[in-house]
Amino acid sequence: MAYAAGHPHRIAPHLRRLARDTWFRLRSHDHIAYYRRVMRSDTARDPEGAVGSHTHRRWLALGRTQFDYLVRHGLKPECRMLEIGCGNLRAGRLFIDYLHTGNYYGLDISPDILMAAQDTLVRYGLMDKLPHLTPVRDLRLEFLPSGFFDVVHAHSVFSHSPLEVIEECFAHVGRVMKPEAHFDFTFDRTEGREHQVLREDFYYRTETLVELAGRHGFTATFMADWEPLHKQSKLRLTRRPEA
Ligand SMILES: C[S@@+](CC[C@H](N)C(=O)[O-])C[C@H]1O[C@@H](n2cnc3c(N)ncnc32)[C@H](O)[C@@H]1O
Repeated sequence: MAYAAGHPHRIAPHLRRLARDTWFRLRSHDHIAYYRRVMRSDTARDPEGAVGSHTHRRWLALGRTQFDYLVRHGLKPECRMLEIGCGNLRAGRLFIDYLHTGNYYGLDISPDILMAAQDTLVRYGLMDKLPHLTPVRDLRLEFLPSGFFDVVHAHSVFSHSPLEVIEECFAHVGRVMKPEAHFDFTFDRTEGREHQVLREDFYYRTETLVELAGRHGFTATFMADWEPLHKQSKLRLTRRPEA
């Protein structure tokens, strides 16, 4: 109520979103089905807005930020990369261009945003790089080979995921990573109580995700050099040798 009083112009859009999301939730059997409906609705309006960029300039800039960061952290053209929740290739188009042909694998739960991703490929003339773009219904990654990827990347995906979806990912992603690979993901960090808004935005304490990753054989590092670059925080998971 205090927030609403301070931001009266946000009340009407919030109520509209509340009505839409309640309708979607009632018609969905789980979070993935629900969020797929959210993405369908948002993508129909504007694919760049659907991945969170409200101007094209910001879409370009955030893709560049993700790309530059990983290159600074050792991404090489010969790496095999898995992007979880690749959206319409805001960063993916830069990874695809940079990596050797066929070395980029993008997954998403939303067929609609993957069709928008195909439009991005065409717009940027990346067809010859033969990226793999695959719709998924969960994050068990069963269709991917073991010990295959050098880098796994998920930007602004767990900020839209309940803990059980994140845990499913942690339980399975280690299998597809090479022993020395790393998995970078962003999350909405809170120092206070963990909470969610409309089952669309989820806020976690760092310790929760570090501890969960530890239970699945990972060491987690908080990436302090990412903090000035974006409002979400970033953790890097590496496999413990015995895992
Ligand atoms: C905010 S967008 C970010 C897209 C992309 N990572 C980027 O930075 O442009 C989040 C994306 O993650 C996808 N997504 C959400 N939950 C997912 C899940 N459990 N598995 C795979 N993709 C998911 C959404 O469909 C959406 O395309």
